[in-house]
Amino acid sequence: MSRPILQIIVASTRPGRVGLPVAEWFRDRAVAQGVFDVEVVDLAEVDLPFMNEPHHPRLRQYVHQHTKEWSATVERADAFVLVTPEYNHSFNAVLKNALDYLHGEWQYKPVGFVSYGGVSAGTRAVQMLKQIVSGLKMLPVVEAVAIPFVREFVDEEGRVRPNDVMNQSADAMLAEIARLAPAFHSLRAPSAP
Ligand SMILES: Cc1cc2nc3c(=O)[nH]c(=O)nc-3n(C[C@H](O)[C@H](O)[C@H](O)COP(=O)(O)O)c2cc1C
Repeated sequence: MSRPILQIIVASTRPGRVGLPVAEWFRDRAVAQGVFDVEVVDLAEVDLPFMNEPHHPRLRQYVHQHTKEWSATVERADAFVLVTPEYNHSFNAVLKNALDYLHGEWQYKPVGFVSYGGVSAGTRAVQMLKQIVSGLKMLPVVEAVAIPFVREFVDEEGRVRPNDVMNQSADAMLAEIARLAPAFHSLRAPSAP
């Protein structure tokens, strides 16, 4: 396969969110590896309403333009990294809504997590996310980036200043995704069993 497309999905849509600078740091790390074609997919820009399709997404009988566009975006990806906050011990509702909209577009693609929050570093959110993505037949990778007390890593200009643990865990996760993406691509081939 050609270079896999890695989509970095920014889950938080709040004004002033930390999620965007975290995603921008991770994007730069991913681009530097030179392995992926990297896309940042910002759910604030995707701007989906609450799920309003009449049919189950597995049928792909989408009636709304916003769903057709979201389907085309996710379909072209070979792998994902979900950049997720922790809200009330879980991931945020915007991300669940975005996942619920589609079905086959997610399948047989590896997914990694960059989570952040307070003392828990968003790890409770990721544990819940793993159940959801597994139900969609994505493969959650074990290697992960978990950032505790995330505000301490954002400078006055709103840029993330990573520590060594963040950089090393990002590289480990990206390496695992790079390993899995080609294998999963063959599972999605039209002739695959
Ligand atoms: C509605 C809400 C619920 C939150 N719940 C948690 C939580 O359960 N655990 C945690 O570590 N931080 C929690 N926080 C703090 C967030 O980690 C912090 O605000 C972070 O910046 C949110 O990500 P965002 O700025 O990208 O939206 C919560 C924040 C909000 C707005």
